[in-house]
Amino acid sequence: MAKRILVTGSGPLGRAVADRLAAQGHEVRTMSRHAPANGEPSAYTWMKVDLLAGEVPQRAVGDVDTIVHCAGSRRGDVEAAQNLIAGARRAGRPHLVYISIVGADRIPYHYYRDTLAVERLIGDSGLPWTVQRSTQFHDLILSACRMLARAPVMPVPAATHFQPIDVRDVADRLVELALAATPGGHVPDVGGPQVLSARALARSYLRASRRRKLVVPVMFPGAAFAGYREGGQLAPEHTVGRTTFDQFLAERFSAQGARKIQPAPGT
Ligand SMILES: NC(=O)c1ccc[n+]([C@@H]2O[C@H](COP(=O)([O-])OP(=O)(O)OC[C@H]3O[C@@H](n4cnc5c(N)ncnc54)[C@H](OP(=O)(O)O)[C@@H]3O)[C@@H](O)[C@H]2O)c1
Repeated sequence: MAKRILVTGSGPLGRAVADRLAAQGHEVRTMSRHAPANGEPSAYTWMKVDLLAGEVPQRAVGDVDTIVHCAGSRRGDVEAAQNLIAGARRAGRPHLVYISIVGADRIPYHYYRDTLAVERLIGDSGLPWTVQRSTQFHDLILSACRMLARAPVMPVPAATHFQPIDVRDVADRLVELALAATPGGHVPDVGGPQVLSARALARSYLRASRRRKLVVPVMFPGAAFAGYREGGQLAPEHTVGRTTFDQFLAERFSAQGARKIQPAPGT
């Protein structure tokens, strides 16, 4: 039976989840503060809503069976979750599915502390709930590589590994959870198909982007990097994702190359 589902956030993950749910015939609403980067979707409704603005409007949360909470930003996630939960409770008893981060309870990083606080709010909300933790998305590793490659040599965290996962693989899992007959509570982590050193990931990025640069492992200071070195962000026993970082990069860079050689409109 078709469900009415709110997906918060129109980033790569929210969008992939909403696309899949709409393709299966569900009635989907999405929300963010700014219009989605790739334009407004045609297969479902997008609404301009700020979860930090106080009461979440009924047009967003009213009558929904399920909320998949994929909105997040560097600041305000706890307050945003409080507002979302309050709105959801006023609207009924929707199943709340939340995407969290592997290591949220292990790595002392302020963003992870907020993520863990959101997990707890959801668990205590009185609503049916499911929390799915994931390892870092390929897009995040790519952004980090782009930033680090701006320096004359490319510094990467020494003795540190990541297990990046494709956002489409995470979206598949969230859709499964959103459509499940019963809420899952804390479900097993999902991680990408390979655990790779930061150095190997940087080299993959340089190869795919056809750049030459010296990659220099650096002992970054601080408790968060120490936590990464201990591997708190990894889920090697849950290699759920199928797309490797190299496959993701090949796809991303071939798409960019194709865009560059597109003829200009009207020519
Ligand atoms: N990236 C990773 O490696 C990773 C790993 C594990 C879990 N996650 C979780 O997955 C979530 C989604 O990932 P993503 O890559 O799609 O993130 P993203 O690109 O940062 O997108 C986040 C979305 O949330 C919206 N948003 C942020 N604050 C909002 C607010 N106050 N009200 C309404 N909308 C708001 C943003 O749009 P506006 O700014 O326009 O509002 C954006 O559309 C993240 O937030 C993170 O917690 C990420």
